[in-house]
Amino acid sequence: PAAPDLRGLRVLVSAGPTLEDLDPVRYLGNRSSGRMGFAIAAAAAQAGATVTLVAGPVSLPTPPGVAQRVDVRSARQMHAAMLDAARAADIVIAAAAVADYRPAQVSTHKLKKHGGAMILELAENPDILAALAALQPKPFLVGFAAETEQLEAHARAKLERKGADMIAANRVDAGLGIETADNAISVFWHGGQHELARADKTTLARELLALIATRRAAVRAA
Ligand code: C5P
Repeated sequence: PAAPDLRGLRVLVSAGPTLEDLDPVRYLGNRSSGRMGFAIAAAAAQAGATVTLVAGPVSLPTPPGVAQRVDVRSARQMHAAMLDAARAADIVIAAAAVADYRPAQVSTHKLKKHGGAMILELAENPDILAALAALQPKPFLVGFAAETEQLEAHARAKLERKGADMIAANRVDAGLGIETADNAISVFWHGGQHELARADKTTLARELLALIATRRAAVRAA
């Protein structure tokens, strides 16, 4: 597809993992590198958008042209930062791998080893994408889905459940997606889908943004 033209649009991107503290030295986390979200933020800035990037803990430099970067650690911090920034966004792309659960209690001292098994109680984190879908006016909302099986069924369920306009889904079992330079993405929306073939994340980000711009225009014209 042609290079996307996002001039005049405000794009909000989330990227990276969230880390959920257990005590002063331990956390629950996941293997997201943040590279897909950072590539999207970079490509959106290059396409002329005003970009805000909300990043979980990653070791990546802010891409050139990104107007604002907000660093967060936990899902609850990301929830607050995203809701705050989304009110001034035309398009929100949620590429962060948000932890679904956090430790119910955060210990102020380092937890000590004791004989036998240990049981951790977890509390559910807020679903950021679903919360953004309730905003009025609602930005064009794009979610991600990393799946090991039943890609389309799970992506389409997510489209409905989260109130998103588009879901970008990738399989995480084929040496692709997480912690890798390459990715391949299946994109789903109400009434359609498109395959973005295996490529580096910079190329995929550009292709995904072109698709988002086209779909957004179609939804607004309808
Ligand atoms: O349901 P699942 O976590 O697989 O959905 C993934 C999508 O939802 C991603 O776009 C992710 O950023 C977003 N998400 C969210 N808030 C959560 C969990 C996931 O915004 N608590």
